[in-house]
Amino acid sequence: MELEDTFSDVIGKAQRGLGLDDRALARKSGVGAEVLSGLKAGRFDEAGLGAVAGPLGLDRAALLALGKGAYPPPEGTDVAGVETFTSAFDGMRVNAYLVWNPATRAGIAFDTGTDGGPMLEFVGGRGIRVPLILLTHTHDDHVAELARLREGTGAHVFVSASEPLDGCETFAGDHRFKIGGLEVATRATTGHSAGGTTYVISGLERPVAVVGDALFAGSMGGGFVSFRDALRTNREAIFTLPDETILCPGHGPRTTVGHEKRHNPFFAGGAAGLG
Ligand SMILES: [Fe+2]
Repeated sequence: MELEDTFSDVIGKAQRGLGLDDRALARKSGVGAEVLSGLKAGRFDEAGLGAVAGPLGLDRAALLALGKGAYPPPEGTDVAGVETFTSAFDGMRVNAYLVWNPATRAGIAFDTGTDGGPMLEFVGGRGIRVPLILLTHTHDDHVAELARLREGTGAHVFVSASEPLDGCETFAGDHRFKIGGLEVATRATTGHSAGGTTYVISGLERPVAVVGDALFAGSMGGGFVSFRDALRTNREAIFTLPDETILCPGHGPRTTVGHEKRHNPFFAGGAAGLG
């Protein structure tokens, strides 16, 4: 699966998040307007890209690697009991996940994507029951098939009380769900959306966290509500998890906490800690 964001996307997200327009970024980085507009249009320029990293609070080495197409593919992200369902939305791709306990055949759906059919077929074919649907956030691409998935599974649907949605039950603060040998702990990852939630799952062979659009392999969701909160809550809620934790993002491939600590330009070693 391709990365969700290019180095140009990362620059744009950091600029918007920090409220830094092109003129201000050119001034702060010493990069000329022409090179900067080239970078934003996807034209790699090593000196220019290296120079904008600092003013954008990004890790220079990680940003350069992304620019060179050298972000290493995350490894060790397969685990029994986690399946990704990718569907199309507006020329983009969005992920929903099914997590189940292979012994008890109890499952939880995380988000719906834009086509619930494949997940319903998958659980039907394997005799997996799905009593619970948990939403990472309520942007259209993540909840588009909610009615169909709920109808097809009979599941209860939960979402953060900070981002209520018609017909869904809500939780507030740190909440735990337990079904069929799986335990899910909620952690608020606010910033991309008001009630953005990361779900930390135990009961599988490896720890797994479904992060929605809080974090992507090599990038993160835009900080539509608050970029600073998005950085801070990711640090507090996701980067404190064990390195081997498998991360399941709303867009792009799975990754791990350890991998993003090393290779995500927003969070790798040299990032400025602007949160
Ligand atoms: Fe989103």
